[in-house]
Amino acid sequence: MKYEFPEDFLWGTATAAAQVEGAAFEDGRGPSIWDVFSRIPGKIANGTVPDVTCDQYHLFEKDIEIMKNMGIKSYRFSFSWSRILPEGTGEVNPAGIAYYKRMIACLKKNGIVPNATMYHWDLPYALQIQGGFGNREVVQWFTNYANILLDNFGEDVELWATFNEPIAVYVGHAYGFFAPGLKNEKYARQCLHNLLVCHGETVKLFRKKNLEHAKIGIVVDVWPHYPARPGNVEDEEIAFYNNEIAGYGIFLHPLFLHGYSEELLAYMKEKDMTPQICEGDFDTIHERIDFYGLNFYNGIYDDADEIKRKEEIEKAGGNYQNKPEAHPEALYQVLHMLVEKYKVDVPIYITENGLPQDDSPDVEKLLDDQERIDCLEQILTWLHKAMADGILVKGYYVWSLLDNFEWSGGYTFRFGMHYTDYETLERIPKKSAGWYRDVIKDHGFTR
Ligand code: FCB
Repeated sequence: MKYEFPEDFLWGTATAAAQVEGAAFEDGRGPSIWDVFSRIPGKIANGTVPDVTCDQYHLFEKDIEIMKNMGIKSYRFSFSWSRILPEGTGEVNPAGIAYYKRMIACLKKNGIVPNATMYHWDLPYALQIQGGFGNREVVQWFTNYANILLDNFGEDVELWATFNEPIAVYVGHAYGFFAPGLKNEKYARQCLHNLLVCHGETVKLFRKKNLEHAKIGIVVDVWPHYPARPGNVEDEEIAFYNNEIAGYGIFLHPLFLHGYSEELLAYMKEKDMTPQICEGDFDTIHERIDFYGLNFYNGIYDDADEIKRKEEIEKAGGNYQNKPEAHPEALYQVLHMLVEKYKVDVPIYITENGLPQDDSPDVEKLLDDQERIDCLEQILTWLHKAMADGILVKGYYVWSLLDNFEWSGGYTFRFGMHYTDYETLERIPKKSAGWYRDVIKDHGFTR
């Protein structure tokens, strides 16, 4: 069957500043929380750091040429806040502005639509030591930064996202395995609330600018959890917790329905973790956006017995390994949930989807990524089905153009359609790069 997508469907690829730019200490850039966190022993796989990564800061023309040759229609990237404002506030770094001007101009010259995220997890370290997202002043810090971005690049970027996957801020403050590495759930909940206010205030600011060609939204990932044994009370509870209390519900409810869900409010009250909420916050967070960016990777089936087994193995110092099954159909369910439960009535973009490979010295094996092609094709068939149901999805971005710095995983996971040789910085196309070029050219694929 031919899976055909609309002529104007925005086929893209995504990256983020901290993961691809490198040049971490060049041209006046200040350190971000990931530069600092990665230097704490044991935090990043193999003790690696994001100082150079793919060096896109110097090699962006090469990457744009690669995209152009693939027929990529849109590039999703993020701004590094500490490259623009090394201290997070105060002096603007002209070299930072100049870099993104050059990069965006090069994209446009090549007919590639810029899709930019203001915040993809890399808070300036100077702000973290003042409390970071837990300090309500972050609303001023963030809107000041957003204002600089909009004044410099407002009309040149067609799609603006305030935040990428805000749950990462929770992970970094409640579980500690992302930067800044704290383990304080109460503080984490305050951070998320303040972050959502930053989002809403930025949308208001954006509206005041009256930009003619630009749209604004937010990117929230959804990893839907399901009970492995429907009807099993423990499984049901775990899945509910992972969706509503520690997952997408934290964001989607206030963004699209207004306020936190009753269940989340009850949970936070019981645990004495209700954040400080100022009058009007929920209206601000609920400010209407132009599009919603969905990052989708997989659906997860929670099995209480399996989780206990995992905990026991890990407690005994063992390494629990169980590759999760692929659930591409979960994308279809998520898209329906967005429209039916959360009443999302703005266009949706799949702003990330991809599959990792474990790093291996066998480069030939990595280049032959048929598994990735199969996975993405399956995802796209479910996307196609949801679109046939009438759900408005306007684009799809593969994570990622090239292998890059995968946060706590360092360089041990390779998500790229191009193999990155971190010694020579060469980008070598994998089989999926050719596959994606054909999908774009043919507006779909046959399967
Ligand atoms: C997402 C992140 C992105 C990348 C992919 C693999 O959660 O937004 O930066 O790490 O996962």
